[in-house]
Amino acid sequence: MPEKNAYQVTDWNGQSGERWVANQARLDAMVEVFGRAAIDAAAPMRGERVLDVGCGAGASSLTLAARVGAGGQVLGVDISEPLIGRARALASRDASTLFQVADASSAELPEGAFDILFSRFGVMFFDDPTGAFAHMRRALRPGGRVAFVCWRGAAENDWVRLPMGAIKGILPPSAPPDPEAPGPFSFGDRARVARILKAAGFTEVAIVPFGASVPFGEGVTRDAAIDDAVKMALEVGPLSRALADQPDDLRARASTAVRAAFAGLPGERSVMINGAAWIVMARNPAS
Ligand SMILES: C[S@@+](CC[C@H](N)C(=O)[O-])C[C@H]1O[C@@H](n2cnc3c(N)ncnc32)[C@H](O)[C@@H]1O
Repeated sequence: MPEKNAYQVTDWNGQSGERWVANQARLDAMVEVFGRAAIDAAAPMRGERVLDVGCGAGASSLTLAARVGAGGQVLGVDISEPLIGRARALASRDASTLFQVADASSAELPEGAFDILFSRFGVMFFDDPTGAFAHMRRALRPGGRVAFVCWRGAAENDWVRLPMGAIKGILPPSAPPDPEAPGPFSFGDRARVARILKAAGFTEVAIVPFGASVPFGEGVTRDAAIDDAVKMALEVGPLSRALADQPDDLRARASTAVRAAFAGLPGERSVMINGAAWIVMARNPAS
């Protein structure tokens, strides 16, 4: 029997982890507005304790720490050593934020210790999402709340729909991905997310759409920004995986096609591209 989440552990400690560290500032700029919407939904109060699941390089953990203040506590948990390393470096002066390398679906977490279970795009990667949420629920106090942001389907997210559409016909045809397989879009189906949370024991599940035009890549001129956006699309996310084992000539053609698609988007110092997410809220029953 393979170890739980084995593929994700390998990937986030290997290629995906390294590429996220390399692109950390630009990725933070891209997803910041979504994280802020989820933090507003969580409504952290001074003195509260927050578990930030799949915290990556810790940007959301630090924002949460500022909201709960010195009397509060934030624990960021992530399976990726390189990303937790980056989080610790960025948080060096923030004593109320702790980071731990652990699989959130099985980590030894203190029972009933947290007021809020939070995540910014870090809960879509579990092999067994219901089991993972049931496990994490035990770390929440009775009556504690959940707030996270996850992507809607790939077809609704231009940052992946446009580049993937552009390379159709360049890459050899492949089977369509399983929409429920662990990965960025596995929580795209709102009804599935509600089912997972209810089966894990949560109540008061509320899921609302949130969309925004976000900066993708950056540069001092529009041309440089488009080049950077293409580089980022080729390095991070579904396009990078689709191109991983392809020959150089095919990668070059794909890059040209993606550039043409991005050139039609607005933006001067970044390509501005649409992202579509769910803001998910739920509660641990009071007893
Ligand atoms: C898309 S990244 C988001 C990172 C960060 N929350 C942010 O917004 O910048 C997903 C993160 O989830 C983490 N992750 C995936 N599976 C996990 C698990 N089972 N337990 C803890 N973290 C996990 C990955 O290592 C990665 O850092």
